[in-house]
Amino acid sequence: MREVRTQVAIVGAGPAGLLLGHMLHLEGIDNVVLEHRNREYVEKRVRAGVIEFGIANLLEEVGAGERMRREGLVHHGIELRYDNQVHRIPLSELADGRAYTVYGQQEVVKDLIDLRLAQGGPLYFDAEVTSIEDVNTKTPYVDATNAGEALRVRADFIAGCDGSFGASNRAIPSDVLRRYERVYPFSWLGILAEAPPATEELIYGRHEEGFVLYSMRSPTLSRLYLGVRPDDTLEQWSDDRIWSELAVRLSTDEGSKVNRGPIIDRGITAMRSIVVEPMRYGRLFLAGDAAHIVPPTGAKGMNLALADVRVLTEALRAFYSKRDERLLDAYSATCLERVWRAEEFSNYMTQMLHPNYDDGFENGVQHARLRQATQSREAATVLSRNYVDLNTL
Ligand code: FAD
Ligand code: DHB
Repeated sequence: MREVRTQVAIVGAGPAGLLLGHMLHLEGIDNVVLEHRNREYVEKRVRAGVIEFGIANLLEEVGAGERMRREGLVHHGIELRYDNQVHRIPLSELADGRAYTVYGQQEVVKDLIDLRLAQGGPLYFDAEVTSIEDVNTKTPYVDATNAGEALRVRADFIAGCDGSFGASNRAIPSDVLRRYERVYPFSWLGILAEAPPATEELIYGRHEEGFVLYSMRSPTLSRLYLGVRPDDTLEQWSDDRIWSELAVRLSTDEGSKVNRGPIIDRGITAMRSIVVEPMRYGRLFLAGDAAHIVPPTGAKGMNLALADVRVLTEALRAFYSKRDERLLDAYSATCLERVWRAEEFSNYMTQMLHPNYDDGFENGVQHARLRQATQSREAATVLSRNYVDLNTL
């Protein structure tokens, strides 16, 4: 077995693991990143696309935001559509001038991988972590299979950044770990299409047929989502059916405008809310999806993950520079306060925008919420602040 020694072993090279590796490197803290998949796979995984104001600033501050600033699309509002009417929420106006940036998660991942490799930081692809051991001692380690060979990484700390299906949250004993979960009775079908977006700002729509979201990645690439039944499969959704359903759900009294083009990526994602408590056990620290999942309505998943990393970096810096463990001790509580706010917001957006096929009461409440969000300046202000900068404000 090959053995490696470092200060922090990071499990997972998603946005959380890669940003943590980079920020620790800037602090002079040695770390090793272990990623189950290969580089091509993680760079092509199409997921989130909205970066909050404060998180975009964070990426820039640590030198990982140059391409995002150049290519990202800065937006100042969103549209809410319901009952065939268009309502614009002027986010920046209601949230102290702050804006959000549309820039794909896989672009963030590519930028962070490029930085890591340029700095010569250890990043193992094809390295599946199979167990995390001795986290209640000062000498924890992880075991991995790296391209068929056994690899052991010994460290002072382990960062579990391996998503909800990873190994790290399973390393917390069941009598310590509390897991809170909600499953929603719908999924999202997402497509990426080579078509110029027919809208300048993101459109979130509630239609009797279901949820719809019009987003984009660039002036020539559209990203669109449809709320579908949880047991729907991609085979049931031909290109034609997708485009005509999008046109129906995006229609307003002024008509409907959706630009079609070749679909280059598609997938169906189940919608769940999960929180794992605590986010720290001994010398194991969870960050990102390993500790919490939000349903995607409101675009909080990646932002939350990156915000956790900021807190963890600060705590590890205090430890290595002053042997001060107070921030490490506070890590879980500090993160969870913000995590629950994001859970609340994502749950609110989800419940407001996905019609419930058989529940007239629920649909009545949704309309009341939509009217409030679009007619009350106070309600729109809360929504705006949460949308553009929940993880900093
Ligand atoms: P991840 O990005 O999941 O990264 C974890 C990494 O760990 C992965 O690369 C994985 O391969 C690796 N890993 C797992 N197990 C191991 C192991 N045992 N050993 C080594 N490595 C391991 N959020 C939004 O805001 N908007 C969206 O539209 C949206 N769409 C999504 C679509 C899908 C299909 C999914 C799954 C998530 C989506 N999300 C979305 C959520 C958002 O993408 C996540 O919140 C974000 O990826 C979290 O980053 P992370 O680094 O914590 O985890
Ligand atoms: C996107 C995803 C989201 O979950 C969201 O709320 C807004 C935009 C996107 O992929 O562009």
